[in-house]
Amino acid sequence: MKFTLFSLLLLFTNILLQVDSFAKPIDLRCEYLQNPLGVDVSAPRFSWRLDDARPGATQSAYQLWVGTDSVGLLQGKGLAWTSGKVLSSQTLVAYAGKPLPAFSKYFWAVAAWGNDGQRSLSTTAHFETGVMHASNWKGAWISDTRDVKIKPAPYFRKAFGLSKKIKSARAYIAVAGLYELSINGQIIGNHRLDPMYTRFDRRTLYVTHDVTAQLQQGKNAIGVLLGNGWYNHQSTAVWYFHEAPWRNRPTFCMDLRIVYTDGSVETISSGKDWKTALSPVIFNSIYTAEHYDARLEQVGWNTADFDDTKWKSVIFRAAPSSNVVSQLMHPIRNVEEIAVKKMSKINDTTYLFDLGRNISGVSSLRVRGGAGTQIRLRHTERLNDQGRADMSNIDVHYRPTDNSDPFQTDIFILKGGGEESFMPRFNYKGFQYVEVSANQPISLSASSLKGYFMHTDLPQLGQVSSSNPTLDKIWWATNNAYLSNLFGYPTDCPQREKNGWTGDAHIASETGLYNYDGITVYEKWLADHRDEQQPNGVLPSIIPTSGWGYEWGNGPDWTSTIAIIPWNIYLFYGDAKLLSDCYDNIKRYVDAITAQSTDGLTTWGLGDWVPVKSKAPVELTSSIYYFVDATILAKAAKLLKKPADYEKYTALAQKIQNAINAKYLNAETGIYGSGTQTELSAPLHWGLVPPILKAKVAANLAQRVKADNAHLDVGLLGTKTILNALSDNGYADLAYQIAAQEDFPSWGWWIKNGATTLFENWPIDAKSDISMNHIMFGEIGAWYYKALGGIKPDPAMPGFKNILLHPHFVAGLEEFKASFKTPQGELVSNWEKTAAGIRYVLTVPPNSSATLRLDVQAGQTVSHKGQVWPSEAKTSFVRNLKAGHYELLIK
Ligand code: BGC
Repeated sequence: MKFTLFSLLLLFTNILLQVDSFAKPIDLRCEYLQNPLGVDVSAPRFSWRLDDARPGATQSAYQLWVGTDSVGLLQGKGLAWTSGKVLSSQTLVAYAGKPLPAFSKYFWAVAAWGNDGQRSLSTTAHFETGVMHASNWKGAWISDTRDVKIKPAPYFRKAFGLSKKIKSARAYIAVAGLYELSINGQIIGNHRLDPMYTRFDRRTLYVTHDVTAQLQQGKNAIGVLLGNGWYNHQSTAVWYFHEAPWRNRPTFCMDLRIVYTDGSVETISSGKDWKTALSPVIFNSIYTAEHYDARLEQVGWNTADFDDTKWKSVIFRAAPSSNVVSQLMHPIRNVEEIAVKKMSKINDTTYLFDLGRNISGVSSLRVRGGAGTQIRLRHTERLNDQGRADMSNIDVHYRPTDNSDPFQTDIFILKGGGEESFMPRFNYKGFQYVEVSANQPISLSASSLKGYFMHTDLPQLGQVSSSNPTLDKIWWATNNAYLSNLFGYPTDCPQREKNGWTGDAHIASETGLYNYDGITVYEKWLADHRDEQQPNGVLPSIIPTSGWGYEWGNGPDWTSTIAIIPWNIYLFYGDAKLLSDCYDNIKRYVDAITAQSTDGLTTWGLGDWVPVKSKAPVELTSSIYYFVDATILAKAAKLLKKPADYEKYTALAQKIQNAINAKYLNAETGIYGSGTQTELSAPLHWGLVPPILKAKVAANLAQRVKADNAHLDVGLLGTKTILNALSDNGYADLAYQIAAQEDFPSWGWWIKNGATTLFENWPIDAKSDISMNHIMFGEIGAWYYKALGGIKPDPAMPGFKNILLHPHFVAGLEEFKASFKTPQGELVSNWEKTAAGIRYVLTVPPNSSATLRLDVQAGQTVSHKGQVWPSEAKTSFVRNLKAGHYELLIK
């Protein structure tokens, strides 16, 4: 055969294309993380996606191998488990092999067979087990004192020699408080505020670091700086964190486990031979700020040759809890560096910096000045009438006992002699402005200060854009508010409270899950829930808590997080583990509501918080959440094969529904209560309306909204339901009208007034509840995906194995694009109104299917690449789609 260069090229491209379209497993994750260290679960979960662009691509079978030998894995060398070839399209599998010992590295790979029967192999991924059992810890819990009042943060150090050649080394560090770890003078890792906040006396987290590169043969030193975090809350505010039952001086336990090339192992541990001294961090509060005196720096404190003879001995401490658990989640980081947008010099000693956007995080300052110059950095969200930093909307719940700890104000004392810089280590704030003032004249420019947007650093999964710039800005602001309120647990606001308010979090959970890969944070936070539940089933309204919130705000409208979040995780990831882990807790919570209810109704709750004007009866909204929980519990019982519970809680849900409808629904008129937006939309959205009355109730809601001039009249609970109830019941255009408003009250009104995050209150000049970085009104971010993109998980095939697709080409919007990386792959749902009709481009990810529903008008057709698709119905079009790319025209 004769090959021309051209035919060779063609052949090569064909091979490439073919290889490209094979069902190759990609995105390998263990416990939803890429190649994690410190995996302490006995049955880690493995997941992958298929890279297969062929139409109808599915996985017909898979095989998984887990073993200690990366090269001989598939040949069975060092094999710990293989699933064997399993005929299944599943891409989430839990380990079921030999028990996994501590401190062991495993490799794993997966083969997938496509629907053509061809096998394709992933590249090899790995994970490493951690300490696994409490008995494997060698170190002791140490600290410098038990005195909770001492302000400076303590340094700890230990120098040691290593004589053999190092193969690998891991640092396992468990801390009550916060830490910064360094080895031989180098800070380890890029995490911030580790470990995450938990109820320290019930669950203490440890973090694993690969420190192979920082150790050396010969002399070494470890340095640890401890911060207070939520463990030793020295600032005083209304939630009593300063009286937390766990409160103590920070403490840690550490094992540095070194494996030598000869196979031997040595562990350097925290113990009596460590030394301690106070650091230049003279005050640190996670809630308020950090103070740093550079004159107290000790150069080389964390290096081997440092003279520590003047340092004190450490003391032993009791472990904060007996439950030391690996922190297996995406960490907090300085995710974005933000340059100053505008700086104004107020006078020789005072400068005002404006980042141009509201963030959670810290500022970092570079400055020159004489020794002892004291610089204050006041962080605020807004300016007062004189154009100066204004704290009055965020310091309202702070109860300082003196003036040594000003709110959101870092204090930096210079050592003199050149440029110096400061960025807090153990604090974060919510702010846009930084007013820097000094007790001596200083010279600053716009580049002297930088902002760092800090939050749990989750991979982004979703993206939307549209022809309406305000809509796009609302989406961006919603994500900014969501991330500003994610620090290993969801919070209400990053400034005034930093509290894990349950209500705010369940309302925003779908917004989070469409945009970010949040499972690791939610699984951790639900473990916090389990730690906080009282024996009688009651949960607090803020989680974690010092004890505050068991008697206020913790009704079902807020604390249904225990049911709603595991259910959403099940829908979004197709993973029932969290639901199963929380099953008993959900049950006890539902039983606790039953104990406080009369004939299926409960008044336990706060109701439609921060409403525009009308407020729905608390009994109606709380009873609806009682119904939601009972329904989720019944579904979970069915899924987890608990038939008696299934029957019991199905009957309970029915009882609640009947009670609500008997008291609040006028079956004649189709109106709930007095017919306000929340009263009508909540029963519709949460599925309480008898099917025969749905259209009538929806029509009443539409009428109500029109009478309200297509503007919001809801509070927190109503924001969850108003847009969805309209768009799910034939009034998507009206929902869009509300969503796109730009005057009061609306999301767009905030944007028009310069918001880059969501606010806590509808009027921008409200007198109270006026944080400027609240996620609680954030459901709109999920609604974009659900209604405009039309993307919803199918409860019958969760994890987007089947996608319910029903985009609404709403009046007033010309174009909308949504993409969302499902556990199966990239889903695209883009539409555009053109002269030829509506162009709808969509990609159904490999290994999944979609049920497409389109609202068409009589006489309209749907065609795919020029071919008309037949339809039986006149006004709605339904078609089951296989994986693949579609280009539809609706005209
Ligand atoms: C918080 C809210 C929270 C509410 C409960 C406020 O102070 O900031 O977001 O849900 O209290 O009442």
